[in-house]
Amino acid sequence: MTSTTSALSSTLLGWYDVHARALPWRNPPGEPVPNDPAWPYRVWLSEVMLQQTTVAAVKPYFEKFTQRWPDAHALAAASDDEIMAAWAGLGYYSRARNLAKCAREVASLGGFPQTEAELLELPGLGAYTAAAIASIAFGERAVVIDANVERVVSRLFNITEPLPKSRKAIRENADLITPDARAGDFAQAMMDLGSSICTSRTPKCLLCPLQSECQGLKAGEPERLPVKPPKKAKPERIGTSYWLERDGHVWLVTRQGTGMLGGMRALPDDGWTAREDGSGEPPCDADWSELGAVRHTFTHAHLTLSVQRAEIRSMPDGEGEWWPISDIDNAGLPTLFAKAARLALA
Ligand code: ADE
Repeated sequence: MTSTTSALSSTLLGWYDVHARALPWRNPPGEPVPNDPAWPYRVWLSEVMLQQTTVAAVKPYFEKFTQRWPDAHALAAASDDEIMAAWAGLGYYSRARNLAKCAREVASLGGFPQTEAELLELPGLGAYTAAAIASIAFGERAVVIDANVERVVSRLFNITEPLPKSRKAIRENADLITPDARAGDFAQAMMDLGSSICTSRTPKCLLCPLQSECQGLKAGEPERLPVKPPKKAKPERIGTSYWLERDGHVWLVTRQGTGMLGGMRALPDDGWTAREDGSGEPPCDADWSELGAVRHTFTHAHLTLSVQRAEIRSMPDGEGEWWPISDIDNAGLPTLFAKAARLALA
């Protein structure tokens, strides 16, 4: 680190000491990392939940998970079904599948490994999460790069090359300004700066503690950075789901595999995917009537899902379970099917 880059990290840490957001998984700025085996677990859980998801959306899930499963051993003892149902509504369900696997590995190791390199070996744990846990939970100097950090660094160093090519330069410069001490606070300071001041569209440069260091601001248009490749238009998909009732119960299935919503409880449907419209059959012959449609956007597609309803006296085809309609809120339906259920019950 040069004297300029160390001054920059000190300035940012000074700002963080005053402005850090108080978050349920966060240590107050400047305080030593608590020597509590549940601490790395809380950091890990929050970082997994925060991927692609806002702090506001994560908070109630973090509370629910840590009350029910206060440490990695408790989570490791839970079934996949319980974990998937508790995750319902948070999205990106592969995270919940990996969570269960990772908790079991950590429990069998007797706790979280403490270095970035060892953390990277845990199942489903990527570069970002390993660096975040190593620095935030264990105080190791690690370079933590999420979308907020990418934006702040691109602007600070006026990196005008488009993403994803610019990632190498972003990492080199982030490395340059990461301090040896308080690397976890530094990473979280960059995230807080990115989410409150160095925002995507209208950065509040006048309030920024780093404004005098910011080469992007000097160049005149920090809001244009980072330059992103043009967004691909998402395809429109069409599918049908089936609300099948019998004696106050609805027929629910568990989606198979590790693909879209795999492992989650769901209404039966016609087999739509992000790549193809649905073309399959309803779960049984019945007097189906159309209730309307719900819209949902996934990472790779927009979906319009028609909802059909019928009542039967017999059993439908295939595996599934009759779920009490009065308890539908506890079925752990992902948001798409929760929307369909609301339509059916409107
Ligand atoms: N986003 C991801 N991780 C975060 C953290 N530790 N603090 C604030 N925002 C975050």
